[in-house]
Amino acid sequence: MAEKRTILIVEDSPTLAMTFQTQLEPTGHTILMATDGATAFAQLRARPVDCMLLDLKLPDMDGIDILEEVRAWPNPPAIIVITANASLTTAVRAVRGGAFDYLVKPFAAARLVTTIENALRGVALQREVETLRRTVEHAGFQDFVGRSPPMQAVYRTLEAAARSTASVFVTGESGTGKELAAEALHQLSPRKGREFVALNCGAIPRDLLESVIFGHVKGSFTGATADKEGAAARADGGTMFLDELGEMDPTLQTKLLRFIQTGAYERVGDPRPRKADIRFVAATNRDPAEAVREGRLREDLFYRLNVVPVRMPPLRDRGEDILLIARRFLEQFSAADHRQFKALAPEVEARFMSYSWPGNVRQLQNVIRNVVVLHDAKLVTLDMLPPLDDPAAMPPSPTSGPLPIDVPAAASPPAPAPSLPGSADTIEPLAVAERRYIEQAITLCGGNLQMAARKLGISPSTIYRKKEGWEAA
Ligand SMILES: Nc1ncnc2c1ncn2[C@@H]1O[C@H](COP(=O)(O)OP(=O)(O)OP(=O)(O)O)[C@@H](O)[C@H]1O
Ligand SMILES: [Mg+2]
Repeated sequence: MAEKRTILIVEDSPTLAMTFQTQLEPTGHTILMATDGATAFAQLRARPVDCMLLDLKLPDMDGIDILEEVRAWPNPPAIIVITANASLTTAVRAVRGGAFDYLVKPFAAARLVTTIENALRGVALQREVETLRRTVEHAGFQDFVGRSPPMQAVYRTLEAAARSTASVFVTGESGTGKELAAEALHQLSPRKGREFVALNCGAIPRDLLESVIFGHVKGSFTGATADKEGAAARADGGTMFLDELGEMDPTLQTKLLRFIQTGAYERVGDPRPRKADIRFVAATNRDPAEAVREGRLREDLFYRLNVVPVRMPPLRDRGEDILLIARRFLEQFSAADHRQFKALAPEVEARFMSYSWPGNVRQLQNVIRNVVVLHDAKLVTLDMLPPLDDPAAMPPSPTSGPLPIDVPAAASPPAPAPSLPGSADTIEPLAVAERRYIEQAITLCGGNLQMAARKLGISPSTIYRKKEGWEAA
């Protein structure tokens, strides 16, 4: 059976619209209706549409204007124009304006179905050619490097979703490129001229997050010394990226849901409702279904955001992409640090291809940066690589054997000594202590960074990010 597609019928006569719908029902595609131009645009923005049947005479707009606007969008639907009279000039104008085909009323059901199926094949082909062209040109997509089949699937989904305002939920292990996916979506969308606002819900203190998102007025809480705009106002017309959504306070999740549903929100301390038109992208590196089961993520919020799910494949499943990405980083970092690196030795390539990359692209980036900072040669050889930990190869399970680091690091700073030594000179900067503590945890876990993260009660990506900072320093 052919893939299920979405067809939008734009026809002001309800009787005719119903007739078309009945005639198209046997194709099994999803059929949407609009009786005027405004509704048609609302439908097109709400979800990806593959084919539009467009009556040129509408109560509120000229069909040709709709055609011209929609054709200029990235990845437009195939448009079939319907004209009432046999005046070919209109039809010719429509086809010149980018319509795939035209139908002159009245037409038979069989003719309608064939024309639609042809148009659907046409768009599919056009999109495939477009993806191929991009793949060949850049071996990637937007800022992504990689052309493996699982990534091609990601690119296609992002491309299709970009045209609409449908919410997108990106999942994937840490460092797989979730934020990059959100940015690509914004860049490909008609909103690209407006702001992309990224919020890490896990990194912003809970009691500040509401004001960060919605803004506040002076005096609404201690420290609110002036009126402040929130992310919602900045992202108006653009895209808001909600990272680590599962970390958000449940009460705030309720407010967020209402905001997403209605576009209306209130600043902290100001009951006057405000409006913003925003495309939402959410992400988490944990299983969202589990977060819902555990009550950390509101189910209705999850479903509202999960209109288009995007799953970033782990780096180990991307085959040769690993080497393409490694070479790209090598080129970039070498140029920036004036090193002469040109290539990876075959043994290094073999090691990279067989390694499990628990920290995914971010980890690969760290490894290459590490090599470039500490060495200089034409070829990257095995001895230059930092140790690569392998969670699968580690025997001790997280529950067996008491490791001396069961303190939840996120809650309170670690206190290795029972009593503080007397002199102020012995106080080290928190960042130094933190680094020592994290590195010690990694050593205690036999180099297993995933386990160390679990024990420390932080996410592996936090460690990777911190390592990035230490190495850059
Ligand atoms: N396919 C790719 N090609 C090139 N660079 C990539 C690719 N995927 C990710 N990156 C880079 O790797 C780093 C990590 O990506 P990103 O921050 O998007 O991952 P993430 O999934 O959001 O990670 P985390 O779970 O840690 O938040 C970024 O510097 C990003 O630019
Ligand atoms: Mg991220």
